[in-house]
Amino acid sequence: MNRPLLEVDNLVIEFETDRGTIRAVDGISFCVGASETLGLVGESGCGKSVTALALLGLIPSPPGRVAAGSIRLDGRELTGLSEARMRKVRGKDIAMIFQEPMSALNPVFTIASQMTRVIRRHQGLSRRQARAAAVEMLALTGIAAPLRLIDDYPHQLSGGMRQRVMIAMAMSCEPKLLIADEPTTALDVTTQAQVLEQILALQSSFNTAVILITHDLGVVAETCSRALVMYCGRLAEEGTVESLFAHPRHPYTAGLLESIPALQASRNRHLPTIAGAVPDLAELPPGCLFADRCPSARSLCREEHPRLITSGRDGRVACHFPVQSREAYRAALVQWES
Ligand SMILES: Nc1ncnc2c1ncn2[C@@H]1O[C@H](COP(=O)(O)OP(=O)(O)O)[C@@H](O)[C@H]1O
Ligand code: SF4
Ligand SMILES: [Mg+2]
Repeated sequence: MNRPLLEVDNLVIEFETDRGTIRAVDGISFCVGASETLGLVGESGCGKSVTALALLGLIPSPPGRVAAGSIRLDGRELTGLSEARMRKVRGKDIAMIFQEPMSALNPVFTIASQMTRVIRRHQGLSRRQARAAAVEMLALTGIAAPLRLIDDYPHQLSGGMRQRVMIAMAMSCEPKLLIADEPTTALDVTTQAQVLEQILALQSSFNTAVILITHDLGVVAETCSRALVMYCGRLAEEGTVESLFAHPRHPYTAGLLESIPALQASRNRHLPTIAGAVPDLAELPPGCLFADRCPSARSLCREEHPRLITSGRDGRVACHFPVQSREAYRAALVQWES
């Protein structure tokens, strides 16, 4: 990798709660290369969305704050930028799409008015030019007759159409980095696949880097080249998608993989997940935070927090006793459960 587009170093995000200060993200570091697709995976509550919000300077404060760390885009430090400066970065350099497009689209304005506002703000086009650019962008996201819906209000569109409009809006300023936070979770299976395809098609035409946030490793397998697995605000494992699937090293990654046995088959997932629950961030135990759910846990795990170490050629893992093979993990799991 040449110099990465995005460099996140030791990022710490805290929230003040009535039970004290919690660390939603505790010292994660990672990079994203230009035009790379990086997956960010983990169960609900593990800090994926707050990581994304921090990249955009959107952590709600109070109660939250970026307590430490650095976020550099093209070598430029983003933490500590004024809101006015950050507003120029949002949309222009980094754009984001969310799980529920309705929450990001304004119900009282037409698609045309919302899209042209974004385009004009960042590109200084006339109203007419911006409208033409909006139509073009909608067509690029696979909307067959953009002129037919551009003057509609968001509620007049289907969920899939709304998500396409969001993508068109996010891509309209050709951001260097697109963050997609569970972009297909709320959609039906067929639309999910189409929307993912669309994101990837746009990414390759614009050379945009993508951070794809999902709780679904199946989605990562189909779209990403590299992935980060997060647990309780920390990195459990990082690797190429190929190596994570073939040789998961962290028991959490191996567990997530076991819960999608038929990757290509039924996408209708009511599959077993990893037994047990994520620990309470307000009362974290010492040692490895995954220990209560881990078939390989030994006494050292409950005493000492595992540091993130290099694994293989280009991966990292935070585990005292990394998984040797998926078969070995399954055997340990069977023994642990009995
Ligand atoms: N506004 C908030 N106030 C207090 N705590 C929050 C807030 N937003 C997020 N958190 C904490 O951050 C953790 C991670 O949240 P989030 O990043 O949304 O998880 P996910 O991985 O599901 O996207 C949550 O479990 C919660 O404890
Ligand atoms: S450090 Fe121990 S408890 Fe934690 S994931 Fe590794 S083996 Fe399991
Ligand atoms: Mg989330």
